[in-house]
Amino acid sequence: MTRRPVPVLTIDGPSGSGKGTISRRVAEALGWHLLDSGALYRAVGFAAGMEGLDLSDTEAVTRCAQTTRIGFRDPKDGGETRVLVNGLDATDELRTETCGAAASAIAAIPAVRAALLDKQRSFRKAPGLVADGRDMGTVVFPDAEIKVFLTASAEERARRRYKQLKEKGLNVTLATLLREIQARDVRDAARTVAPLRPAADAVLIDSTGMPIEQVVAKVLELARKYRQ
Ligand code: DC
Repeated sequence: MTRRPVPVLTIDGPSGSGKGTISRRVAEALGWHLLDSGALYRAVGFAAGMEGLDLSDTEAVTRCAQTTRIGFRDPKDGGETRVLVNGLDATDELRTETCGAAASAIAAIPAVRAALLDKQRSFRKAPGLVADGRDMGTVVFPDAEIKVFLTASAEERARRRYKQLKEKGLNVTLATLLREIQARDVRDAARTVAPLRPAADAVLIDSTGMPIEQVVAKVLELARKYRQ
């Protein structure tokens, strides 16, 4: 008898498409594990910054990706998952635009992506995995059972990010965020290695103007036959 592989549901898309929230809710609803692959790239960007590395020094950054210890810890009280980088809780720092930009820069280095492959695949454990990222369906889990590509207009994504940052009391402008998002989109889509694009067998969902619950319901519907 052949054993069925552990099911994977990939959710790829640009930043601000709602991937993070939707992946978390879908993983909770299914009782599956969650891989936030962006956090791995952010962690390497953060570690490189801590070491004072020049991000264009591909050899040094690659070594950093190979040696940085990244861990995820779920607090016992059910709060948000903490990300440990070389033993240090860097959860808050990882969310900053500085870390996002560093992650985007180092993510364009093929050897960095290769260094993170096994780590990402090690998250595939029973009963299933929801993998959130840019190349989950195309490169990391090409054999995934269910693939979703989530988009939203750049304006909507900038508005969502603006609201999030304002709630945290940060002083930002919508115009600046829109420019940053557009610049990041171009960089992530234009890179030669694992560019941001939907897998041929992905289901496209445009979440512009759609409430989160509706997107979650749509994704869960796709995963229905894999639920116990
Ligand atoms: O999803 P995020 O914003 O946390 O990702 C941060 C950066 O990491 C993003 O600009 C591109 C990169 N990234 C990637 O190249 N591949 C992934 N699977 C996830 C993130």
